[in-house]
Amino acid sequence: MSAVSPIEEFDDPSFDPFLEDALVFGEHLDPYPKLAGLRREASVLQGEYRVLMGLAPDVTSPAGAMHFCVLGYDEVAQVLGDPQTFTNHAYTYNLGISFGRSISTMDAPEHPRFRRIFQKAFLPQTVAAWGDELVDPVVHELMEAFVDRGEADLVQAFTLHYPFRIIYRQLALPPQDVATFHKMAIAQTVVAVDVAHGTEASRKLGIYFKNLVADRRRNPGSDLVSALAHAEVDGEHLPEDVLISFLRQLVNAAGDTTYRATSVLLSALLRHPQQLEAIRQDRSLIPQAIEEAVRWDGPVLMQSRFASKTVTLGGVEIPQGAFIDVIAGSANRDERKFPDPDRFDIFRKPQHRHFAFAFGPHVCIGQHLARVEMTRALNALLDKLPNLRLDPDKPAPQIRGAMMRVPHSIHVKFG
Ligand code: HEM
Repeated sequence: MSAVSPIEEFDDPSFDPFLEDALVFGEHLDPYPKLAGLRREASVLQGEYRVLMGLAPDVTSPAGAMHFCVLGYDEVAQVLGDPQTFTNHAYTYNLGISFGRSISTMDAPEHPRFRRIFQKAFLPQTVAAWGDELVDPVVHELMEAFVDRGEADLVQAFTLHYPFRIIYRQLALPPQDVATFHKMAIAQTVVAVDVAHGTEASRKLGIYFKNLVADRRRNPGSDLVSALAHAEVDGEHLPEDVLISFLRQLVNAAGDTTYRATSVLLSALLRHPQQLEAIRQDRSLIPQAIEEAVRWDGPVLMQSRFASKTVTLGGVEIPQGAFIDVIAGSANRDERKFPDPDRFDIFRKPQHRHFAFAFGPHVCIGQHLARVEMTRALNALLDKLPNLRLDPDKPAPQIRGAMMRVPHSIHVKFG
């Protein structure tokens, strides 16, 4: 039995971070026409993205901080590709409050030093092996609960849970506490509007992971925490705060984004039944369907950066110390790079990369795992749920949000 004390619940156990989704990320059904209008005016414009989209400002931004939105494809590429000028220091104010000293808050030379270690755990060949061992068992376990019912809400029954369960198994977290970890993981990201619960989650996860790392150092297993607890940088263990912050980030980032991306992928395919049918007939189309889904309506619309010096971008002078709201969701629909950008088309032949996983030194560490998970999930749903289709008697899925996107339900029938 583990010697690690269980994760502690919120002081107010009735607190439900899922209810804050609309407040934090918005309820916008379609933010893209507004983004297209702004982008046509200027590729770079002054103002905070949250406020431009009608959301409450980020309470963690320092008072009086200037914000600039970067909307054009070329300008987004320039920002993400120039980490000396546009640094990740911006995240120390926001996600850094809950994650701590995570790699998202770091810049060179610290960032590559630590990222190198974490990245090893998520290399394409490593995570490909997780498909059979880890991903499929979770996918099939969840599907067993509804496969014989002829109908389901794929979000509540499936997508909301599977990527969290996969990473929690890889970390060998106690299965009976999965729901608490899930709540804590989500609460960390509401910090932009709810600092109290974001920091409570951070503190409790911090205590838990400190004990867990110590335990796995004494009693190593074959899990990811044990591997990271023994990993070395320049002959020394990873600093404890860096490792704990990575784990705090991981319990969220590995689940929340893939849950959203899978839900968007399924909504888009179910709303375009001919494209779904093409995939059913030819599974080799799945990779291009995933890339198109994350380009068309990727779950993470915005990244944050900080101007380390005064710079001119898209003809606009940005002063040193300004916050840069990098709107990847706008760049991915820039008509100058993606013809007819609002159309979801898995047969599109893109000439340009999308920024759904960002780009540059901070490009998503988990992108290969996310692709394995989405591929396995879609294959299993198509294999086990014949004639999968939207339920005509229930509301159609509505993808919502201006910061992060997701439909809250996908009612389907099958069989
Ligand atoms: C479809 C699913 C996913 C999407 C759309 C996504 C998106 C992103 C984006 C846009 C960034 C860059 C943030 C920035 O620099 O501003 C990022 C970074 C990151 N992602 Fe993901 N992610 C996904 C899945 C995952 C998974 C499965 C994991 C865990 C294994 C993960 C772990 C991370 C980490 C640790 C970083 C920080 C990397 C760094 O700063 O060097 N992500 N992700």
